[in-house]
Amino acid sequence: MTVHFIGAGPGAPDLITLRARDLIAACPVCLYAGSLVPEAILAHCPPGAQVVNTAPMDLDQIIAACAQAHDAGRDVARLHSGDLSVWSAMGEQMSRLKALGIPVSVTPGVPAFAAAAAALEAELTLPGVAQSVVLTRTSGRASAMPKGETLPAFAATGATLAIHLSIQRLDHVVADLTPHFGNDCPVAIVFRASWPDERILTGTLADIAGKLSEDITRTALILVGPALNGEAAVRSALYSTDYDRRFRPQSADSPFSSLDVDT
Ligand SMILES: C[S@@+](CC[C@H](N)C(=O)[O-])C[C@H]1O[C@@H](n2cnc3c(N)ncnc32)[C@H](O)[C@@H]1O
Repeated sequence: MTVHFIGAGPGAPDLITLRARDLIAACPVCLYAGSLVPEAILAHCPPGAQVVNTAPMDLDQIIAACAQAHDAGRDVARLHSGDLSVWSAMGEQMSRLKALGIPVSVTPGVPAFAAAAAALEAELTLPGVAQSVVLTRTSGRASAMPKGETLPAFAATGATLAIHLSIQRLDHVVADLTPHFGNDCPVAIVFRASWPDERILTGTLADIAGKLSEDITRTALILVGPALNGEAAVRSALYSTDYDRRFRPQSADSPFSSLDVDT
């Protein structure tokens, strides 16, 4: 018996990995974080599966449900939104399960920031503009930000910021970022990326707050940074005609000509 932690993706039931789909289909028990994982994903569960929404449960209750499945020899699909590597609370569950000797596995998922970028048809890194993406959040009731991980500090790098769990603090985000990025810096808000009611708001740090509808209070990502303009300062060398590289040596003298492409 194993508790399979599975990244359930940003919302659309077909935005999960084949491995995730097959694992969900093979598990007689499914515990899902119903605050973010849409019920459409549960269509992958086998007929007769025990399906439990853990949104109203505390950690002890979730571990007890896993322990009960373990005693009955029933595999558990434990679904969290997006990918498990960021803000999934997988770590605290896993350490409790391991202490009980319950085996676990981890299957990655499509993170919300990738779904939001896809909705925008945007590349978050552009040559000469931004070559880093910071996945971050602002302080909330559940956890405060560590000292040093501040929006102004990240903005000072010029990286593209993907700000989670912060739509209710948009005014604070704008105030923190404007001195570094400037009023004209592009901002995109993607609400429920990949859900049927997905919405996209675009603007600048100067006007985005005025564009936010009152009903967008959660499940939204704020993307900020000059790369959102979509205009690279320079072209990537990768596809330029004279770029000498392993898979496209430009001459017999190229150091790549004699190399096996797999080396
Ligand atoms: C607890 S975090 C979970 C992040 C998730 N583990 C991931 O990999 O994206 C929840 C936050 O992720 C963002 N989020 C999750 N799903 C989203 C979606 N479909 N569209 C936009 N933002 C989403 C929102 O900022 C939300 O407040």
